[in-house]
Amino acid sequence: MLIDGADELRRHLAFRDALRADDGLRDMYATLKRGLAEAHRHDRSGYTEAKSAFIATFSAGQQMTDRPVAQIRVATPDDAPALARMHVASWRETYAGILPDKMLSALSVEGRAAAWVKIMQEPANERSTVVYLAEHDGTIVGFGSCGAQRTDNLQIKGYDGEFSGIYVLRAFQGQGIGARLLGKMSLDLLARSFSAAALWVLRENPRARRFYEYHGGQLVSEREDIRGDATLIELAYGWPDLKSWVKKCPAKR
Ligand SMILES: CC(C)(COP(=O)(O)OP(=O)(O)OC[C@H]1O[C@@H](n2cnc3c(N)ncnc32)[C@H](O)[C@@H]1OP(=O)(O)O)[C@@H](O)C(=O)NCCC(=O)NCCS
Repeated sequence: MLIDGADELRRHLAFRDALRADDGLRDMYATLKRGLAEAHRHDRSGYTEAKSAFIATFSAGQQMTDRPVAQIRVATPDDAPALARMHVASWRETYAGILPDKMLSALSVEGRAAAWVKIMQEPANERSTVVYLAEHDGTIVGFGSCGAQRTDNLQIKGYDGEFSGIYVLRAFQGQGIGARLLGKMSLDLLARSFSAAALWVLRENPRARRFYEYHGGQLVSEREDIRGDATLIELAYGWPDLKSWVKKCPAKR
């Protein structure tokens, strides 16, 4: 009985949030309630039951379509080895044919793990790097890292915060994980009083650029990056007003 009650309360709260977010659903529910009030004019419990049945049906549909593929949480130094494995795998699948093969095969999981431990062991303050992990069944399938802006010319332009990395394994792309990581990082930066953010992306990475552009990133700078024998062009995308972007962000879970 208690469990049913808790489930019901959870369903009602989720439904309330959905009503706040969706004008169409709100109008439909208002119409439904008027119809039910008419049909159950002298039968309050019949009215309540019919209303609850609608909410239960809605919740069942939501669970089928909206169940997140991954859980998002803040990383700790203990996550460094697994994070490094995922990071190297994602670099290799993302940059094959873009970065020199020699450079990709030389990437070292141990080296990356040591770098992540160092970053995450730094004393936490409002400028430090925070890493969000996306996990599916306990395995890291994506991450996003954010902190204070490290590039002088972006800082001068007012981009005080930075999205320093965002990677989702190819098998998990296109399921909203990247959007959720971007949302989490934006909220994190805002909570630390950063007002804007920017990142660097290779010009030859159209998928990531499309993702940033779709999410409101504006082209704000360009630079040359020499890696081994290759000269690459990097573009900076910026979000000049994180607060208003977060209000529109569809995925903050
Ligand atoms: C860029 C990246 C982080 C995005 O993560 P993701 O989990 O795939 O992102 P989402 O599922 O939230 O959104 C992905 C897609 O939806 C697009 N999208 C979502 N809704 C859309 C809409 N209504 N209209 C147009 N595009 C839409 C995004 O731009 C992207 O487009 P694509 O499928 O055409 O490539 C991911 O692709 C990735 O890790 N890529 C490899 C690593 C990388 O390049 N990182 C960036 C380094 S700077």
